[in-house]
Amino acid sequence: MEAQDKKRLLETIKARYSVRTYENKPIEKAVLEKLSSFLDANTQGPFGNKVRFRIVDASQAAVSELKKYGSYGLIKGAQVFMAGTVVKGEKDMEDYGYCMEKNVLMATSLGLGTVWLGGMLNRSTFAAKMDASENEVIPAITPIGYPADKRSMLDRFVRTASGGKNRKAFGELFFDGNTFASLDKAVCGKYAEVLEAVRWAPSASNKQPWRIVKEKNTNNYHFYMSEHSTNSMMKDIRIQNNDMGIAMSHFELAARELGLEGSWQVEKPGMEAGKLIYIVSWKG
Ligand SMILES: Cc1cc2nc3c(=O)[nH]c(=O)nc-3n(C[C@H](O)[C@H](O)[C@H](O)COP(=O)(O)O)c2cc1C
Repeated sequence: MEAQDKKRLLETIKARYSVRTYENKPIEKAVLEKLSSFLDANTQGPFGNKVRFRIVDASQAAVSELKKYGSYGLIKGAQVFMAGTVVKGEKDMEDYGYCMEKNVLMATSLGLGTVWLGGMLNRSTFAAKMDASENEVIPAITPIGYPADKRSMLDRFVRTASGGKNRKAFGELFFDGNTFASLDKAVCGKYAEVLEAVRWAPSASNKQPWRIVKEKNTNNYHFYMSEHSTNSMMKDIRIQNNDMGIAMSHFELAARELGLEGSWQVEKPGMEAGKLIYIVSWKG
């Protein structure tokens, strides 16, 4: 295997960005088929909640209907979406974030643009397309398509306004031994790259709610959420918990690609965490 192949996922993680302007060109059949079979096999998150994904071709009428809703109005040129459902349950939002982000990275590696849309969107349109049952929710969707070379003015504005290109500093997100001491990359070994992969993850409004504490002298990493007051504005949906699942997928994919073994466990790290909410631990 070529050296560059070995870091395929890490590169995909860094290459991904939110695409809000799409070329008016149909997705190649072979690309759609590959993506479809990936979606079909992606059925369960690390916490065991069941997810289902579909590629949804929205008709022109459905697209106009969607345009009435805030976040979609900013998206140009896409009519095909990846939509999904998760069965309501404990840590359902984390599982959905984790699984959907894997789809996003697969789409990115196939040359497609994506943007997570979890704000105001016409969920009933997608619920019908997904044949969603009462106990399933649609936390977020993403359009898929070829990124247009020229991003619209609005797209540029949104990206700048939401700080799309920026991320918090390493030491603001990752901590050493407790939730107060900034982590120094030098003590993390190969995990420094794993944490960088989390840093470049997408998050709702780019709030980057992930706070990760490295347990001293171990490869155990405890994941906490810095919750914003808007997290539970929508019934059954907590968008920042999606962000936590997204961070877990970047962490795990990067770790596995670098040959680092570990698994997810929910435990009580027994740390003074202030207002941070404990989610999960990686036991490396
Ligand atoms: C769960 C989730 C929900 C999001 N919802 C929206 C949305 O409704 N509208 C939108 O334009 N962008 C949305 N985004 C995209 C973020 O604004 C974007 O990921 C972030 O600003 C970082 O930029 P980047 O993806 O280009 O790295 C969402 C992202 C996530 C993870």
